[in-house]
Amino acid sequence: MEEILILAIESSCDETAAAVVKNGREVLSNVISSQIALHTLYGGVVPEIASRKHIEKINQVIEEALAEAKVTLDDITAIAVTYGPGLVGALLVGVAEAKAISFAKGLPLVGVHHIEGHISANFIEHKDLKPPFACLVVSGGHTHLVVVKDYGVYDIIGKTRDDAAGEAFDKVARAIGLGYPGGPKIDKVAKEGNPYAIEFPRAHVENAPYDFSFSGVKSSVLNYLNSCEMKGEEIVVADVAASFQKAVVDVLVEHSVRAAKELGINKLAMAGGVASNSCLRAAMQEACEAEGIELYYPSPIFCTDNAAMIGAAAYYEYINGVRHDLDLNAVPNLRLGERG
Ligand code: KG4
Ligand code: ZN
Repeated sequence: MEEILILAIESSCDETAAAVVKNGREVLSNVISSQIALHTLYGGVVPEIASRKHIEKINQVIEEALAEAKVTLDDITAIAVTYGPGLVGALLVGVAEAKAISFAKGLPLVGVHHIEGHISANFIEHKDLKPPFACLVVSGGHTHLVVVKDYGVYDIIGKTRDDAAGEAFDKVARAIGLGYPGGPKIDKVAKEGNPYAIEFPRAHVENAPYDFSFSGVKSSVLNYLNSCEMKGEEIVVADVAASFQKAVVDVLVEHSVRAAKELGINKLAMAGGVASNSCLRAAMQEACEAEGIELYYPSPIFCTDNAAMIGAAAYYEYINGVRHDLDLNAVPNLRLGERG
């Protein structure tokens, strides 16, 4: 079999990342330069700062990815890049870089949807995983239930009506004084708390059993904090974190397992930053075991933003004949399944 080596670039939010991936599933290098420390100062990602930092870091990150994989640009088969969705200025840095390398070296260019990347992260460590399967995508910007019908072919069967799951984690973490990024901090603190201490709502969307809504649980946490403050009652941060986390996880698990069962799909994957949440992993595992569903999720390093996942997705796009021209542009609100 011909060896296909893809150099992948990811810069849609606050990580500048590059990776070299062989035949879609073997990661030769995965370099991530995180800007988290910088954005923590502001309590969230500042788009203009993110773009500038990407510009500063991108060449170095690519050089490291090539060196770590022990290859040069002459060994690379194609260049892949995330072109949406994400912050437009941040995406543009990766897209411009990928186009420049593609032009200079005469290499094919493959634009990748960020969420397709997250989903494809599952292919890296699960060599046996092939479509069709269902996937719960839970990141800072997205909460989708997707049926992966084939490589690059998606059916979105549910999505959030308001906040994304990760966004809810980040907002609640800020409210209880844990700071940014909230997800990993809530995950850690919740281990010391009682998930049954406070009853936060589990939202269901009428006539849309696979859709999600997280703004209610977030408001409920804020109301709880306000009322404690007004009554002069002590706030037990670990209990709030654990109870909030349980409310979100219950809904994610219930909807995902219900979708898999109703659609007769016995393989379920998880993707995105929130898929590294320990409570979600344990609860989903238990529910899937009870229903005879095989569960897949990536290691934490492949759950949060990285370029290896973009290389995995790009491989299947590449062998399906997808190529982009040098007029490829960043598309901040790119929809899954849309080919730009
Ligand atoms: O997928 P990702 O890196 O970026 C986007 O595409 O949005 O996801 C980042 C999100 C953040 O909201 C972060 O708080 C959340 O994933 N996250 C977690 C955990 N690790 C990251 N949420 C809950 N538990 C975690 N362990
Ligand atoms: Zn992401």
